[in-house]
Amino acid sequence: MQYEDLIVEVHGKVALIRLNRPKALNALNDRMMNELGEAFTLFDEDPQIGCIVLSGSEKAFAAGADIPAMIDYTYQDTYRDDYITRNWEHILKVRKPVIGAVAGYALGGGCELAMMCDFIIAADSAKFGQPEIKIGVTPGAGATQRLPRAIGKAKAMDMLLTARTIDAAEAERTGLVSRVVPADKLIEEALAVAATIAAMPLSVAMQIKEAVNRAYEVPLTEGVRYERRMFHAAFGTPAQREGMHAFLEKRLPNFEGL
Ligand code: CAA
Repeated sequence: MQYEDLIVEVHGKVALIRLNRPKALNALNDRMMNELGEAFTLFDEDPQIGCIVLSGSEKAFAAGADIPAMIDYTYQDTYRDDYITRNWEHILKVRKPVIGAVAGYALGGGCELAMMCDFIIAADSAKFGQPEIKIGVTPGAGATQRLPRAIGKAKAMDMLLTARTIDAAEAERTGLVSRVVPADKLIEEALAVAATIAAMPLSVAMQIKEAVNRAYEVPLTEGVRYERRMFHAAFGTPAQREGMHAFLEKRLPNFEGL
């Protein structure tokens, strides 16, 4: 696979997608987002892949939507072409686990894209922010909704209204990221975490992802009921048989192909 604005690698059962527009700090433009959608779709359909890592460069995960590309847009243009959502939300359709590995700037749409991942591992150099207000617009790829869910209303309002960036330590404290690692180890660590996930039964990992995402959409009792049905349905599956027998036989489970 050859892309103009992405670097794509496969490490065993893990796919690594890196945003690659270094001169613009990985600002997200139409071509890059189309390519990203294509890469995600291919890896989601590839039976060899069990987990996907999305990253950027050492300096920037992404500094937001491409400002020069949208500076002369009108409401009519953006509405008609469904700008942003049209090709930004492929990632939300990915059924396999997706880890965001963030170093440097994750601003505006960059922070929003990172929040679309299932969880974020941050380098100690990471900086998260929603500076859209400083350029006269609201966020457009989910920050007003996902940020309060991720870090609570007070912190989200603070970031969105003041355009303040937060560092990796604050991002970890507030729950925006799951772990912080040294910048020079980010990719290695993210790939290792992804390999751990990819060694699990893929069908179960996908079900867990679906159920956790459901927690944001349905009332608690419905979510718990859904989880219980999934749990019931796990019995008799090859993954359940292999996992529980491996435990009793004191050996490592082999979930290959499950
Ligand atoms: N779009 C296009 N180009 C961008 C960009 C963006 N969002 N962010 C940075 N760049 C470009 C700069 O224009 C610059 O290019 P030139 O060398 O050709 O001038 C290059 O990347 C390097 O940037 P800086 O010289 O500014 O680097 P810096 O280290 O001094 O500052 C920064 C880095 C703090 C990230 C700063 O570039 C910045 O504030 N960028 C804009 C961040 C922003 O406002 N993002 C929100 C965009 S709107 C959005 O995302 C809407 C949405 O919700 C979807």
